[in-house]
Amino acid sequence: MVERIPQTFIDDLVDRSDITEIIGKRVEIKKAGKEYKACCPFHNEKTPSFTISPEKGFYHCFGCGAHGTSLGFLMDYEKLTFVEAIEELAKMLGMEVPKSNEDIKLTQKQTSLKSLLNEVSGYFQSNLKSSKKVIEYLKDRGIDGKTAKYFGIGFSNNSWDDLTKNFGTTEKNIDQLFEAGLIIKKDKGGYYDRFRNRVMFPIRDNRGDVVGFGGRVIDEEDDPKYLNSPETTLFKKGYLLYGLFEGKQEISNTKEVILVEGYTDVIGLAQYGMKNALATLGTATTENHIKLIFQKANELTFCFDADNAGKKAAVRALEICLPLIKQNKSVRFLMLEKGSDPDTAVREHGSEPFKKLLKESFTLDDMIIEICNSSFEIDSLTGKANAAEKAIHLVRQIREGIYKDLVVEKIAKHYGVPTKSFLPRSTEIQKPRKEVKRESIKRPTLVHQAIRVLLHQPSLGTKLSPNDHLEFIDLKGVDILKEIIGLVHDNESIKVATIVQHFENDQLRRFLAELAVEEIIVNASELEKEFDDIVLSLKKANTKKELNSLLEKAKNKDLSESDEKRLKELTNNPKN
Ligand code: UTP
Ligand code: MN
Repeated sequence: MVERIPQTFIDDLVDRSDITEIIGKRVEIKKAGKEYKACCPFHNEKTPSFTISPEKGFYHCFGCGAHGTSLGFLMDYEKLTFVEAIEELAKMLGMEVPKSNEDIKLTQKQTSLKSLLNEVSGYFQSNLKSSKKVIEYLKDRGIDGKTAKYFGIGFSNNSWDDLTKNFGTTEKNIDQLFEAGLIIKKDKGGYYDRFRNRVMFPIRDNRGDVVGFGGRVIDEEDDPKYLNSPETTLFKKGYLLYGLFEGKQEISNTKEVILVEGYTDVIGLAQYGMKNALATLGTATTENHIKLIFQKANELTFCFDADNAGKKAAVRALEICLPLIKQNKSVRFLMLEKGSDPDTAVREHGSEPFKKLLKESFTLDDMIIEICNSSFEIDSLTGKANAAEKAIHLVRQIREGIYKDLVVEKIAKHYGVPTKSFLPRSTEIQKPRKEVKRESIKRPTLVHQAIRVLLHQPSLGTKLSPNDHLEFIDLKGVDILKEIIGLVHDNESIKVATIVQHFENDQLRRFLAELAVEEIIVNASELEKEFDDIVLSLKKANTKKELNSLLEKAKNKDLSESDEKRLKELTNNPKN
């Protein structure tokens, strides 16, 4: 079990890190008063509107709105995952990310497996150079040298023990080859190479380390056409996508992904300028894959062959996507001609026609109608009713929201049924989702104002104690305010960035970050006065609530002795 990294450690890391140094190492920065300025690395600009505040531990671009902490900067700039960015920061600060012993052992093992796989991949690539036949094969397929190199394409020699001979010199090495899925145990003892006489496609993780391979036959009569590494501790097919490392930059720029079925489709599209294509590793698309893609992109276009298998796969993909669609995340479906795949399509017709196909592909709602209509004889009333029934069933799985409302409207109109048929059946009525806390602080309530001030001057938080004054207030966001006050009490000189980073919910973090960079025109003493006023009002509101609840109890003759005492206290105080 991989343990979660403790939040306190992350808070500490962000707090200790020097954002100026981290950004300054990667971007040219200039001092400007208390802050630093730079040309924003996240959008094109000639005059610097990218601002770093060492005091807040925060960066903000007034041009494109990019903002975040040192951790966020590393993730966005270096395209690291959350955990990778934490590891990077920890390394810079000479800190050790706390892990259980078991984790440490696993990491060590994985690191050495990765380095073996990287080496083997290099070896496969070097084999390619000396094999005319393979070079011819790639040429025939139209894969140019540059693309082959970019994807690290190689060749496994036609031998049963090539890898064992070259990489299995010690028992430990043999064990590793086995664990990496490169050699297979013989029944009678000994091993043989898994990949023989195959064009090798290395599959890389987010950092570019090789974690597995796909191997394609070069002699068409060999079987199976593609052979993939087995599941290993590094190679988890449900969580990996071919092309993710190679397409990282393009995906980050365009926020679009094209999901295709084969390795050669990814390669073909990349060669024709579409470097944002990804493929699953010979498995069906899973929910994890889609989530992974939506972490990096906003629009996903599936490409399927329009044959029966392709249609089935499209229906399955659509069903997986329905509950994952939300504002800003959309999917499209491109059904290619029967027997065609993106690799052949783009090579045959060129990139512009293919891009046009992508543009004209089905939207989710069109795809729902397409699937439902092609599943039934819609010329008859029963057939049409069945199709509508199926569409309703599918649409119900979309999350509640404006997008769903629009789909409902469109599909209801298409089938001529009332929109109320799309309401969840009574048995399906969903429990209200635990909404993210951000919802809770939309209007500038007292609580909202308090949070805003604290995100500019955290030390003011000591004026309130985490439990004393607010226990009766049920204003939205009060739990966030309390948490911030708690953080300030633990560390009076806490950075704004640390506070923001402390919250786990992405949306909430973004919301707080936006508050933190909002300009506040008043000076420090005015801000303190403002906060005092807010605190006073909060306390009043709190007391009022407490009083009301006690009076309510009194009405029901429910007062305990201490309640009685408290009620007297409150009613005797003229201020209340
Ligand atoms: P396809 O059969 O569509 O192959 O398999 P392709 O990508 O068009 O291959 P080329 O153009 O003939 O080289 C699509 C994907 O399905 C998996 C592989 O991941 C492949 O890229 N697959 C296919 C297997 O895992 N095993 C197989 O035997 C065939
Ligand atoms: Mn193909």
